[in-house]
Amino acid sequence: MAEPIPFSAALRERSSSAHSGSEHAGFMSDLMQGKGTRDDYVALVAQHWFIYEALEAVTERMRRDPVASVFISDKLTRLPALEADLAFLLGSDWRERIEPLPTTRRYVERIRRVGATWPGGFVAHHYTRYLGDLSGGLFIGKLMQRQFGFDTNGIGFYVFGDIADPRAFKDVYREQLDAAPWDAAEQERVIDEVLVAYRFNTDLFVDLAAAKDSAAVVA
Ligand code: HEM
Repeated sequence: MAEPIPFSAALRERSSSAHSGSEHAGFMSDLMQGKGTRDDYVALVAQHWFIYEALEAVTERMRRDPVASVFISDKLTRLPALEADLAFLLGSDWRERIEPLPTTRRYVERIRRVGATWPGGFVAHHYTRYLGDLSGGLFIGKLMQRQFGFDTNGIGFYVFGDIADPRAFKDVYREQLDAAPWDAAEQERVIDEVLVAYRFNTDLFVDLAAAKDSAAVVA
């Protein structure tokens, strides 16, 4: 009999087309191809701040949960790096100069709701962001650094100083996904929530593109 496929592999497979959708969204692919501006990059960093503020607040709450806490590591924490990036990119009054786009508001609301009540859903959001940051994110950071002439300032979000070997870290994370005590129905719900998280990320790129177009009209 064929071995059942591990949960982490099923999750990756079932979300791969959603991943392509996020990866190839116009705003993101423009940025990756050198067609984005520094302002576009800053707009993305600002939205990340709202998302990670919510994600890392619910992370604090989930530290007490026996299943979710296994996935939590201070090595992943991104909020201080995002704040340093924004101070560098926008100045010390950065907090007054940013606001969440409509998709970001909905995404944050979802993270807070799920993160208050549902460990599996929390893991879905945690996985979608941090495993992505430890994968394509590392590459995106290097590209942005080169494109906009940043040294380390401005791209701290993409630098995981406490994770020497991202591949090994991700392997352990996938082993933890495989070991989570979820039955088939719960695994399905977690996969569905990962798809929801991808949707928010793709919609955010649509919002960012629209915000850029309307700014161009005003200017
Ligand atoms: C230009 C944009 C992107 C590029 C170039 C990119 C690239 C990649 C690559 C190459 C991998 C595979 C790494 C490996 O197998 O170890 C990966 C994995 C991943 N990416 Fe992305 N990505 C992008 C955008 C995103 C976005 C927007 C998200 C969601 C927020 C995301 C979430 C993920 C996740 C969760 C994984 C891990 C999949 C798994 O192994 O289970 N990526 N990405």
